[in-house]
Amino acid sequence: MGLFRSSMREKHERSYSDRELFRRYIKRLASYRKNIMLIALFIVIQAIATVALPALIRYLTNELDGGSPDLVFTILAAAGFLLLYIINWIAFSLQQMQSGKYVPFFLEEMRLDLFKKLQEQDMTFFDEYMSGKLNSIIVNDTLDFSSTAILISNTIGSIVISICTLGIIFYFNWILALITVAAIPALFLLMFLLRRLAKRVSKNYREAISSVNSAMVEAIEGIQVSKSFGQELNIVSQFEDVNQNYFSAWMKLTATTHFWRPLLNTITSIILCLVLYFGIDMNISVDILIMFVLYVQTFFRPVLQLARFFPELSAGMAAFERILSIFDSEPNVKQKRNAQPIDDIKENIQFKNVNFWYDRDNVVFEKLNLTIRKGEKLAIVGHTGSGKTSLVSLLSRYYEYQGGDILIDEQSIRNYTLDSYRKLYGKVEQDVYLFPGSIKENIRFGRKDVTDEDIWRVLDIVQASEFVHRFPNGLETIIGSRGRDLSVGQRQLISFARAILLNPKILILDEATSSVDAFTEAMIQEALGKMLEDRTAIIVAHRLSTIVNVDRIIVMDNGAIVEEGTHEELLDLQGKYASLYNQYFVHQTLDWQEQSYSK
Ligand code: UTP
Ligand code: MG
Repeated sequence: MGLFRSSMREKHERSYSDRELFRRYIKRLASYRKNIMLIALFIVIQAIATVALPALIRYLTNELDGGSPDLVFTILAAAGFLLLYIINWIAFSLQQMQSGKYVPFFLEEMRLDLFKKLQEQDMTFFDEYMSGKLNSIIVNDTLDFSSTAILISNTIGSIVISICTLGIIFYFNWILALITVAAIPALFLLMFLLRRLAKRVSKNYREAISSVNSAMVEAIEGIQVSKSFGQELNIVSQFEDVNQNYFSAWMKLTATTHFWRPLLNTITSIILCLVLYFGIDMNISVDILIMFVLYVQTFFRPVLQLARFFPELSAGMAAFERILSIFDSEPNVKQKRNAQPIDDIKENIQFKNVNFWYDRDNVVFEKLNLTIRKGEKLAIVGHTGSGKTSLVSLLSRYYEYQGGDILIDEQSIRNYTLDSYRKLYGKVEQDVYLFPGSIKENIRFGRKDVTDEDIWRVLDIVQASEFVHRFPNGLETIIGSRGRDLSVGQRQLISFARAILLNPKILILDEATSSVDAFTEAMIQEALGKMLEDRTAIIVAHRLSTIVNVDRIIVMDNGAIVEEGTHEELLDLQGKYASLYNQYFVHQTLDWQEQSYSK
């Protein structure tokens, strides 16, 4: 299926037994029991009014049979009908009002819970779930699942109506009543058996709609690549496959949830015919027979509703299963129960025999050891894929390491509260993300107590105030998602300002390779000097200008630290660093550039 193949695969799907799903469903509904009972009560009131109607009709038929009715009787009968309809109407309105309040609230609360759960997750979770799929769960699955919220009320109402009607028909004629109920066990058995099929097709449907969402998100994210390779048509045809798959899943779902409806109606009609046949055969009076036929119809409506309970619940459970798999994803990076806060680093940061992998088959670090002193400026260099970003990601607690330990002042970083621990760090990522909003909102992200002066001060430090001033709206300038209205270099400076505003004790910089021109590079260099003052700094360096001024450089290769020292010391070693330097960094020296221009 080409590019979007991975969006078709649901790698982290969990399965739950029907019993477990139902238990969790009831638990989720428990806090709304008042609403559910109220809705059921209004349904029952409607039911009583409905059940009374055939009796009234029978009474009327009986009276009419005897000759012309008197005026009082006619008015009373009309008033009786009117009253029953008014009761029905009021109870129905109240039921709708109650559902109108409760179902959206149920949905809103579940979406909020899911959103909170997402915020708790570490990066492993986001590596596993594609954003399109998460979006689909939060938007579509919750919506579909919320339709099961009134299923229980409807069921309670239906049970009450069925029992009342059943009592009445048995009271009037037990033989006809037995004929009426004869088909019911078969009906329920059919619906019970259908529930598995309903769950399966509904699950496929959910996966298909999720794939459409994912494919859409991925295609929009990758639109520049598609355009630059002239692949728009190809992408469209690949999307068509995913969309086609959704269409057929939807057809199957519709077929499964609707094909048995005519069957149920046919069964009702057969029962009606049988009741009429045997009724006439038994010489039952017309009034009772009419009433009986009406009751059989009244009886079957809730019975059909009850029979649909299993397939409808199972379809809702397919959505609930996907929702639960998020609720049940425990983050790997968790806060210990007795965790202590931390507000500064006193001595050092130590990696002790750290083992780490994203994927068990591809070990990134094996017994990694490194000590970073407080106040030290450390640069990490190495080929692409050597583990530089992974090292700083572990330190930032984006991921959990599998072996060894990382210590700050001899205490495992797992012993510190996550919130206070993460506040130690200011981080500029390799791939800068800015939220859609104003420059100001992006810079003071996470801090509401800062003034415009504070923001201009940090913009001065990172040499960005000039370009922000040039925008007519200054700090209020709105930037698009991922900061699309800014150049890559400008985005980087904004992310510097955002990190510095937090006044972090430890600054982590994961440099992007070539996003800035020589002028911005010089500005960043100057900015860096100020940014690094009085801080511990770890810089994944791609620029020579960054490396030469640090206290120590470590060279990474294939997840291991292979050399360390200052720039000069490492050059003298004539090892990995020297060869890296000759491959990349030497081109960035002024001498080299002058030489090549003069050639
Ligand atoms: P890094 O992402 O740590 O490498 O990946 P790096 O040194 O920072 O590379 P550049 O300079 O930014 O390009 C280290 C290893 O971890 C694997 C990669 O395959 C790589 O070999 N990796 C990385 C994963 O398996 N999953 C990830 O999400 C990221
Ligand atoms: Mg990297």
